[in-house]
Amino acid sequence: MLEVKNFSIASKENDLILLDNINFKVQKGEIHCILGKNGSGKTTVAYSIMGLDRYGKKEGKILFEGEDITNLEPYERAKKGITIAFQEPARFEGLRVCDFLRAGKKDATKTQMEKALDIVGLDPADFIDRSLDDKLSGGERKRIELASVMIMKPKLMILDEPDASLDIIVYNELYDIMLRMKEELGCSILLITHREEAGLIASGATLISKGKVMATGPFRCVMRKYCTSEGKRDRCIAFKKGTFSKPILIDSKK
Ligand SMILES: Nc1ncnc2c1ncn2[C@@H]1O[C@H](COP(=O)(O)OP(=O)(O)OP(=O)(O)O)[C@@H](O)[C@H]1O
Ligand SMILES: [Mg+2]
Repeated sequence: MLEVKNFSIASKENDLILLDNINFKVQKGEIHCILGKNGSGKTTVAYSIMGLDRYGKKEGKILFEGEDITNLEPYERAKKGITIAFQEPARFEGLRVCDFLRAGKKDATKTQMEKALDIVGLDPADFIDRSLDDKLSGGERKRIELASVMIMKPKLMILDEPDASLDIIVYNELYDIMLRMKEELGCSILLITHREEAGLIASGATLISKGKVMATGPFRCVMRKYCTSEGKRDRCIAFKKGTFSKPILIDSKK
């Protein structure tokens, strides 16, 4: 579905390399995580796939369904079926939820909006006309953001840390919601996260450090490498007992 091939990108301002020869693939119908510490380059990967223009020189390719999209505009990539939910969703004080949902898809019907709200666990009757103001909780905002992504019916959904700063019950619910969205749309999800618990829903993962891919492969072995490199206990083992296949380690010097 998505292939990032020998891709590098530099900063516009000072040519600093932000992503350095990265390679990974997201298969059709897969939930694939991008893991890495703060500042490692996760959001830069997401923005590069979406084609958001805030970088300088780039090299390599991004292929979507076999087609080279490296130089397409963001709206062209959106038309092809790629959508992103931002790490820090914009606040639209005063706008109603239904207006926000229609901003993503002008011809969205009330039934479609109600269905999307229902899937993300919000009662449509309570939320469709609610104002998007600071009375909404963090979790409710994240759900509304997911509903807006869902209503666009993407083939590939990029979710930039939707599980950050949420308590355990809320992010476990969010993972359920992501699975429901994936089933409903038959889409792939590129999930940027720090959470080991994402292994409950993800099959693949790519670990990024200082703009380089350190490992890519099955989620549990990549997460294991992440935990080891961070000196954290690997909790993934608790999810599923079994043999770990080895991640594909990328030589960062190349
Ligand atoms: N347009 C830009 N120009 C210059 N530097 C940038 C630009 N965008 C990001 N950076 C820098 O690149 C590095 C990676 O940033 P990025 O936002 O991708 O990290 P991240 O892995 O998403 O971090 P976090 O977990 O904190 O969200 C950071 O050091 C950041 O300051
Ligand atoms: Mg980020």
